[in-house]
Amino acid sequence: MVRVGIIGMGIRGRLYGRAIMQNPKAELAGFADVNPKTLKEAEEFFNVKGTTDYRELLEKDLNAVIIATPDFAHTEPAIEAIKRGYHIMVEKPLAMSVEEAERVIEEAEKRDIKAQVAFENRWNSPFIMVKSSIDSGEFGDIYGMRITLNDSIYVPTRMISWAARSSPAWFLMSHCVDMSLWLTRKRVKSVDARGIKNLLKKQGIDTYDIIDASLRFEDGALVHIFSSWILPESIPYVAQFKFETYGEKGYSNIDFTNSVITNASDRYYFAGLPTLWADIHNRLTGAPIWMLDSFIDSIEEDKPVIATLEDGLETTRIVSGIQRSVEEEKEIKIR
Ligand SMILES: NC(=O)c1ccc[n+]([C@@H]2O[C@H](COP(=O)([O-])OP(=O)(O)OC[C@H]3O[C@@H](n4cnc5c(N)ncnc54)[C@H](O)[C@@H]3O)[C@@H](O)[C@H]2O)c1
Repeated sequence: MVRVGIIGMGIRGRLYGRAIMQNPKAELAGFADVNPKTLKEAEEFFNVKGTTDYRELLEKDLNAVIIATPDFAHTEPAIEAIKRGYHIMVEKPLAMSVEEAERVIEEAEKRDIKAQVAFENRWNSPFIMVKSSIDSGEFGDIYGMRITLNDSIYVPTRMISWAARSSPAWFLMSHCVDMSLWLTRKRVKSVDARGIKNLLKKQGIDTYDIIDASLRFEDGALVHIFSSWILPESIPYVAQFKFETYGEKGYSNIDFTNSVITNASDRYYFAGLPTLWADIHNRLTGAPIWMLDSFIDSIEEDKPVIATLEDGLETTRIVSGIQRSVEEEKEIKIR
């Protein structure tokens, strides 16, 4: 039985809590959240005692720790958990600087632990299918990708309270960058990106509204990523994800907007994306659940994790480059 503690009981932490409760090989041993209201709600929901201080949680008898704090707050809890010898799963992005990601890796290398980054699209069925087509050679060499991942303005204004300390690059593009690396198995040479800061800044949230990035790979392949998180709330999606792959012999198009459930009643709204995850008769299924299960299996069966800290570092390296390119208005060499 893997005794798991969770740091950060917001949207993701609660989802993992439910995933642990239904995994017969895992037990929810405790959790921490700095926000007393969030903590109390989680305590009532899970009937498990929590703490506002994650260090107190780490003193418990645990085997593994999930870090589901905001983007800017992954590094210290991850390092503290590793120092105590616990296996870790860290939310994406692994860290918001290369230096921080390297510190996590340095600490992990000293110990025999499993460490996974929560790049959940590696468990998302449409991407699994495209990967199998790419790996079989169906599309030939991959020359390019065109990726759009948008959120409605609900996300930076009402869903998360810390958008000013993140950006469309950190919050959204980290998924796209990881997918482009995982699917192509190629390395990025340079990035060139642009951004606009206006609407959110006027609302007191000092971050970019839109970022538009071009990645050039070592072999010349091109990946274009566009992310906006200011789509009006009238749009019937929380997230809008379109992912095109262009190869020498073929083309693939994933469009998640085709699988979104939209309801029209007193309003027209997003009612779920069941290909990503769903609650089926009180049992959760889908990418985040299979990702958690896979992390537990890697511990129980001593198997490699699917998304490593090195994968997390590489994405952090590229997203840092995108942020720098936006701020300095120039192309940034990655290697
Ligand atoms: N893998 C994915 O597909 C995916 C999807 C959404 C979000 N995320 C990532 O998951 C992370 C969490 O996102 P969320 O949507 O759950 O955010 P959230 O704001 O709902 O939850 C974060 C929680 O962490 C708590 N917290 C902050 N600092 C803490 C600390 N030092 N110790 C303990 N608790 C602390 C906050 O009080 C909050 O309850 C982010 O990094 C986000 O980018 C990943």
